[in-house]
Amino acid sequence: MTQSARGARSTESGLPIEPVYGPDALIGWEPADKLGEPGSYPYTRGVYPTMYTGRPWTMRQYAGFGTAAESNARYRQLIEHGTHGLSVAFDLPTQMGHDSDAPLASGEVGKVGVAVDSVEDMRVLFDGIPLGEVSTSMTINAPAALLLLMYQLVAEEQGVPAEHLTGTIQNDVLKEYIARGTYIFPPQPSLRLTADIFRYCRTELPRWNTISISGYHMAEAGASPAQEIAFTLANGIEYVRTAVAAGMDVDDFAPRLSFFFVSRTTLLEEVAKFRAARRIWARVMSEDFRARNPKSMMLRFHTQTAGVQLTAQQPEVNLARVTVQALAAVLGGTQSLHTNSYDEAIALPTDKAARLALRTQQVLAYETDVTATVDPFAGSYAVESLTDDMEFAALELMDEVADRGGAVAAIELGFQKSEIERNAYRIALETDHGDRVVVGVNRFQLAEEEPYEPLRVDPAIEARQRERLARLRGERDGKAVTAALSELRHAAEGTSENVLYPMKEALRARATVGEVCGVLRGVWGSYVPTE
Ligand code: 3HC
Repeated sequence: MTQSARGARSTESGLPIEPVYGPDALIGWEPADKLGEPGSYPYTRGVYPTMYTGRPWTMRQYAGFGTAAESNARYRQLIEHGTHGLSVAFDLPTQMGHDSDAPLASGEVGKVGVAVDSVEDMRVLFDGIPLGEVSTSMTINAPAALLLLMYQLVAEEQGVPAEHLTGTIQNDVLKEYIARGTYIFPPQPSLRLTADIFRYCRTELPRWNTISISGYHMAEAGASPAQEIAFTLANGIEYVRTAVAAGMDVDDFAPRLSFFFVSRTTLLEEVAKFRAARRIWARVMSEDFRARNPKSMMLRFHTQTAGVQLTAQQPEVNLARVTVQALAAVLGGTQSLHTNSYDEAIALPTDKAARLALRTQQVLAYETDVTATVDPFAGSYAVESLTDDMEFAALELMDEVADRGGAVAAIELGFQKSEIERNAYRIALETDHGDRVVVGVNRFQLAEEEPYEPLRVDPAIEARQRERLARLRGERDGKAVTAALSELRHAAEGTSENVLYPMKEALRARATVGEVCGVLRGVWGSYVPTE
């Protein structure tokens, strides 16, 4: 939100926002065409007829650090505090397909998430948590198939049938090439693996959400709301095209696609963003891909409040920011929500900060009236105008991606990355010049910041995790692991076999994340970004 010299204001997406909207904003505007009923095409008002009046959104707090045992304790604490769904953060070595004892892993083991090297760590991670009764999101991309299969193996040991398992793997490598960077393989083998996961889940894990097509990380890298939904939906189109080209019928996998967006403090534009995204996706799936199943046209999404808007200065002020951001996500119809902890701009969240973040959602869900009625902004002169403007701006950007040959071709041209970097630079300049107010940072500062004691991660984690790996390698049947990895290599070298089946047997034999990804790197190579 910025104030131009003339005093007219514009949104984060650079669209005009009028001081007053009136009836002329909706002249010739067809509610039946633009809105539909809640739970019906084009889903502008939400994907379910009753939305939160039927069931509140899932409170799904992203968490994970250190060893599997430490993260298991945090998950049990969150379940005790009332969280509905789990959301697992993995450390960088796991996300990049390296074992904790790999030279590249040094200094990163258990730092930004939990270290998982094998099915043994997965067993500890979910110890005492009934996998038939929770839905678990796993923020894992390039090695998503491995973590999904280890989750299924642990569920099998708990006696939970695969068809009962619910949850999501992020599995969105395209946005990793654009922002965030936890990719392993080049785009084409990555898309093959994505299609294999869609097909495997269709057969083995029918209630599992196979992908969380994410705009969050592009937003955190500086994407405007219009860029966020345009580049995310363009990535979604690439995944759908890939699965259809691999011979799947769109209605066989599209109902289990899901999305993930950010929610900023600019509440009105964010509500318009979510509503526009649902309408665009419904039309893309119905008109471009000829989907027939209504569930294929529903854009179901998770939201995380904007971490990039948190400040290290006066950190408690972040409680107010997160509340506004969370309210925007709820008024925009999110299915699942993570609220950031107020201290996250400083360090890993303390237990108290994590609890306050969840309590913020509980206040919105149980003390306010936002769950009493569906899509309360429907018909609003301002929000419907902003929704239309957002839809138009996003569609224009999606056309620019399509004109470059689609998401992968545009990525290889560096198009999305350069557009996002340009917007990030604009935000930085506006903040430096004071045109963009950041409370506590460039206005309303304190002469001296108050002391704050951050959570400290035990440095001995890495040594303990390396010992676990050495023990595992000593105890397992090495010949069985070698044979299973050879089966996987053979499947990856071909094009017809679904690699998840031999991959599951290798993981069952206690092959490690690094060993499995090492075999696939050997066959598919590693992605080298185009500069
Ligand atoms: N009426 C009827 N049915 C309803 C309903 C209503 N009002 N509300 C919910 N339901 C049903 C749904 O149909 C669903 O049933 P089904 O599974 O049989 O279809 C069930 O109740 C659960 O509802 P949802 O699917 O809407 O909610 P979930 O929470 O289960 O799923 C999701 C939400 C967005 C679809 C899913 O993909 C999800 O949970 N995503 C989470 C992703 C996530 O947590 N990501 C974290 C990323 S952190 C990160 O990237 C790193 C960091 O750096 C940012």
